[in-house]
Amino acid sequence: LISFDVIEGLSTGERALVLVPQLKSDKLRSLKARCDEAHGLALAIELDVAETVGINLADIRPSTYIGKGKLEEFKGRIAAEDIGLVIVDAALSPVQQRNLEKDLGAKVIDRTGLILEIFGRRAKTKEGRLQVELAHLNYQKSRLVRSWTHLERQRGGFGFLGGPGETQIEVDRRMITERIEKIERELIVVKKTRRLQRAGRKRVPWPVVALVGYTNAGKSTLFNALTNADVLAKDMLFATLDPTLRLVRLTNGMKVIFSDTVGFIADLPTQLVAAFRATLEEMMEADVILHVRDIAHEDSDKQAEDVKDVLRTMEISADDPRLIEIWNKIDLLDNETLLFKQQAHWAQAGALTPVLLSALEKTGFEGLLPRIEEIAAAGDTVEEIALSPSQGAILHWLYENCDVQAIDVDETGEQLLTVRITKPKMMQLQSMMER
Ligand code: GTP
Repeated sequence: LISFDVIEGLSTGERALVLVPQLKSDKLRSLKARCDEAHGLALAIELDVAETVGINLADIRPSTYIGKGKLEEFKGRIAAEDIGLVIVDAALSPVQQRNLEKDLGAKVIDRTGLILEIFGRRAKTKEGRLQVELAHLNYQKSRLVRSWTHLERQRGGFGFLGGPGETQIEVDRRMITERIEKIERELIVVKKTRRLQRAGRKRVPWPVVALVGYTNAGKSTLFNALTNADVLAKDMLFATLDPTLRLVRLTNGMKVIFSDTVGFIADLPTQLVAAFRATLEEMMEADVILHVRDIAHEDSDKQAEDVKDVLRTMEISADDPRLIEIWNKIDLLDNETLLFKQQAHWAQAGALTPVLLSALEKTGFEGLLPRIEEIAAAGDTVEEIALSPSQGAILHWLYENCDVQAIDVDETGEQLLTVRITKPKMMQLQSMMER
């Protein structure tokens, strides 16, 4: 695989300026919220952010997106403060990007470039990495086609090799196209393998709990607060299953496997949707899905809708019994506001009961843990269990506690049972068999 530094030459700790331009006429999202998000994204790839500046635009300049007057203001600062990178939170055309680099005297990347970089660093599964590379190549290819005229130079002056008139841009484009085709073929194989691995994972006796939610909703904080990180090895990786799964013990003593997912991001560029979804595939297999919401965020409702839309595309409907909606950060709201939000919530058709909590202050967990247990217990699986003739007590227990669907006895007297069993019972069985 190629290196995942999408932004060529970008180094961790690079001093950066984040610009968030927004048309004055755009009333859909608040500029402040967009600035907070862009700032968080820049920190996610460990940049040293000098400042994040919201800019109200009367109109979009075709050549540079942002007006010349504004750019002049930043130019001096960029030179004085040794800023090497400017992030513009917008979809820039290749021409705009190049003009901005010239005008500002610094490297410029746009929102798609930034998100690609984050995904590149976070993609853990093979499929996730391939999808990110694919998105990156398509992004590069579109940039080649449209503007890299400076690459448009004749090659091999005498035409002995390669046919006359093949320009550098055509060579580059052909190389990228070949790479794209190769990745698409690899993806087919990877998907097939993953299906097999999933079938294998079904035998894991612990419930899988997935956390989803917007970037900054508090997923990591909740994860840490919910788990006794010191009881089990902190990073006990399930290498045989998948490196993104971790076995942890909840504060109520229950053992579960947590599945780590990437945070959602607003206005995801369309070419990144497949890459993003690949990083979420894990979730489709989960027994419990925790949708963590920052309920104090001013765009909280819009964010929740976005998350539900993506879940729907993954065949997880809003009323999926595995879903628990969590209203996090209630410590930031006064009672009146919270009550108002609850009333608005209950006015909606089909509203689910949310769990209200503060991951930071560790309050409200008493409402969450029993619900995780309840849902996890509801999921049952079909298992094959081999018993020796001396394990009659266990055989008896199985008949009492689960649905024995078939039984086979071989010549040594060993019995092979096919049973439908719930996860908690399976856990009990495991510890009985270990004794
Ligand atoms: P990504 O990794 O970007 O997807 O974010 P995340 O969802 O894992 O969020 P994270 O846990 O990193 O929390 C984001 C910020 O919100 C941090 O500054 C937390 O301290 C803060 N935070 C999380 N939970 C709470 C809460 O209950 N109350 C308050 N006031 N802040 C919280």
